[in-house]
Amino acid sequence: MAEKPLTIYRSDYTPPNWLVDEVELHFDLDPETTEVISRLRLRRNPETEAGPLRLDGEGLELLGVRLNGRPLDDENYLRKPDGLTFPELPSPCLLETRVRINPAANTALEGLYVSSGNFCTQCEAQGFRHITYYPDRPDILARFTTTIVADQVRYPQLLSNGNPVARRKLPDGRHSVTWEDPFPKPCYLFALVAGDLVEISDSFTTCSGRDIALRFYVEHHHRDKVGHAVEALKKAMRWDEEQFGREYDLDIYMVVAVDDFNMGAMENKGLNIFNSKYVLARSDTATDADFQAIEEVIAHEYFHNWTGNRITCRDWFQLSLKEGLTVFRDQEFSADQVHRDAKRIEDVRLLRNSQFPEDGGPMAHPVRPDSYQQINNFYTMTVYHKGAELIRMMQTLLGRDGFRKGMDLYFERHDGQAVTCDDFRRAMADANGRDLSQFERWYSQAGTPRLDIRDSFDAKTGRYRLRVRQSCPPTPGQPQKESFHLPLRIALLDREGKEIPLRLQGEDTADGSDRILEIQHQEEEFVFCDLADRPMPSLLRGFSAPVILDYPWSDADLAFLLRYDRDPFGRWDAGQQLACRQLLQLVELIRENRPPAISPLLASSLGGVLRDETCESALRVQLLTLPSETYLAEQMQPADPGAIHRARQFLRRELAAELRQPLLALYRQLHQTDGYRCTPEDAGRRGLKNLCLGYLLELEETEFQQLAVAQYRQADNMTDQLAALQALCNSDVAEREELLNDFHARWKDQPLVLDKWFTLQATSRRDDCLDQVIKLAAHPDFNLRNPNRARSLLGALAHSNPAAFHRNDGSGYRFIADYVLRLDRLNPQIAARLVSCFNRWRRMVPELGEQMRAELERIQTDSKLSRDVREIVGKALNG
Ligand code: TRP
Ligand code: ZN
Repeated sequence: MAEKPLTIYRSDYTPPNWLVDEVELHFDLDPETTEVISRLRLRRNPETEAGPLRLDGEGLELLGVRLNGRPLDDENYLRKPDGLTFPELPSPCLLETRVRINPAANTALEGLYVSSGNFCTQCEAQGFRHITYYPDRPDILARFTTTIVADQVRYPQLLSNGNPVARRKLPDGRHSVTWEDPFPKPCYLFALVAGDLVEISDSFTTCSGRDIALRFYVEHHHRDKVGHAVEALKKAMRWDEEQFGREYDLDIYMVVAVDDFNMGAMENKGLNIFNSKYVLARSDTATDADFQAIEEVIAHEYFHNWTGNRITCRDWFQLSLKEGLTVFRDQEFSADQVHRDAKRIEDVRLLRNSQFPEDGGPMAHPVRPDSYQQINNFYTMTVYHKGAELIRMMQTLLGRDGFRKGMDLYFERHDGQAVTCDDFRRAMADANGRDLSQFERWYSQAGTPRLDIRDSFDAKTGRYRLRVRQSCPPTPGQPQKESFHLPLRIALLDREGKEIPLRLQGEDTADGSDRILEIQHQEEEFVFCDLADRPMPSLLRGFSAPVILDYPWSDADLAFLLRYDRDPFGRWDAGQQLACRQLLQLVELIRENRPPAISPLLASSLGGVLRDETCESALRVQLLTLPSETYLAEQMQPADPGAIHRARQFLRRELAAELRQPLLALYRQLHQTDGYRCTPEDAGRRGLKNLCLGYLLELEETEFQQLAVAQYRQADNMTDQLAALQALCNSDVAEREELLNDFHARWKDQPLVLDKWFTLQATSRRDDCLDQVIKLAAHPDFNLRNPNRARSLLGALAHSNPAAFHRNDGSGYRFIADYVLRLDRLNPQIAARLVSCFNRWRRMVPELGEQMRAELERIQTDSKLSRDVREIVGKALNG
């Protein structure tokens, strides 16, 4: 048995004994042996007792230590594999360390590494300790000066944070550039890039008239794919000025695209480093979804400059302080660029498909966690997306203006500081004279709360009573929960679906027809007066709180709401519930080997949506997309992924058969060939058209298959090309093989497009999917070292294709577990994300659950397992 994993607790936080005022870094770059000199200007923290100086450092070859310019013997400090401790130092002092590292051997992509022959860094959360000895914690803010030395021909661009202040030519064909960042920052925001990259520049004039140089750096052959990202950046900069009064602070903003990157992108001060997936786009290589994601991630990293960089986190337990807030900001930005209602539904769908299962499983944790073994495992849906919902609830409770006042106070109070989630909440409360103390429970209690709503109508008095009961299931370490404070947005509809003016008991007159009810207690009651008939409630409008709502709807109620609710989320949610009921009934019939059959209500309701020309295309796409297999598995106990898959496929086929005429008519109407435009309207139309095509291909009829073949061959854009190929890839059409080969041949030199080719096959609904994936893992283009490629095949199978992953014979589990172990040797962060596909083993039908558990146990016996994977596996087995 390996050593017991170390757990870090939030309650153990203590302020640092030593502060770093200035850091001078010197990099002598070479792929295999890079030397890093660091000079730290240190002083005792006047606010704490005297104590030793602790510098983190991992995988560093220490070449020397100097104190105030003189060599320091090694009896003056304690050296361990994870850092140096100096028991006694004069204050202030200048401490210099010299280390050697090997960036070319860095496959974990944390610290300094090489990607496509270029150097780049990733320091969040604790990567800086892989570069040099340093107090690697976000509450140490220092001014950085960085000098980079490298071969001039091989690495013409030498970049770091801030402004370039010196440039020198050196002997032996080397050169150096020195950068100075005037803003004190935590070391996780440090960045360095060196390489042969093309610079694409643009500029932005801020609200106060300052000209900012915008510079994008990509590999030369990608120079024609940067335009969309540049425009997105300018939009985001303007939006943050207009919406939040935030102006950019440095004179340069740089974005670098790299092919090997663990996450989406990183907000390093003045020098963002991006996964190239979130920068590069041309209409023939990127889909509408890619274009939208780029706009969103570019904005997200830009918004971090204020929410994350100028005001940062005190410790990593506060991660949602910057991530939840910044996701909220990028969601709102995106909603303003595309179709707001469809965007809100996409966000809710993501939360329900990914965050709810996390919150109900062994990795459940509060938005502000209490402990971790490996912080990288806490860059989660909960911290990011539930965190964003908490910010959204504060906005709903305080109103837009009140929220803006709170943001202003937050920036005013805390600019330049490292703070906590409590500090944010206090700013919101203080700016509005409101008590948000109960709201804190959203940060400290894990689990998805449930709202059970029941109602009654008294025809004699015209009173309508809503009773709301909240509860929250137990989660690991939290058996009992206290009540949450939440906004419940509602309306009452009359028989024609019109909203009724609302007067609550105790109010003199009716005031509006859309209300926010504040829920604080375990049970609340609201009495509405002056009602002529029993109304139809529209509940949790806009998804006003991240909860599961239970109300005894009839199928007819849901069909009514799907048709009439003016709240687009309400319409969508009603349709999802109606479909979900139908699907769970089908699952039961299939499991009992009885003939499946569907009720006509769903088909006729969806037919109504299909023909509703007043409903925007992007929204219709949402309304017509059935709940995912993952979501359905969450609604079923124990879950049977095979039966769910068959049920959903059966329903798709039945709907296609029922609606073939309107589907085909709409496909033809929307299938324009008059040139591609990347606008939200056109993207919406393409989405709806391709949704129709997907349904029609379920019928396995030659006529429709030939429509898809023709669309594939004639497409002038990746959205249409990929949608056609995807539909064909799910079917048995003769051209399938040929077109997959054609796609590969066409795009083999574009890694991001080739990723799509792998994913398409890994998410195929065909029965032979897993066999294909196993073959593809041996394909010469498959590469475990590249996170995008590993995710495109393994991640897609394990997280996005339940039917193939959960094959009865357990071969999907064995295949993924083998790759978790191989991947863990190379890149623990990516391996840990992959292994989480086993987390929900307890919810599965026992035949499957037991096989999943066996694979977790097999993984756990590996003595060389990383801390990352060990934490996930340990919690999955014990939780
Ligand atoms: N701060 C980054 C973001 O959300 C997240 C990130 C990028 C990250 N790279 C990482 C987190 C590597 C952990 C490890 O924008
Ligand atoms: Zn972020």
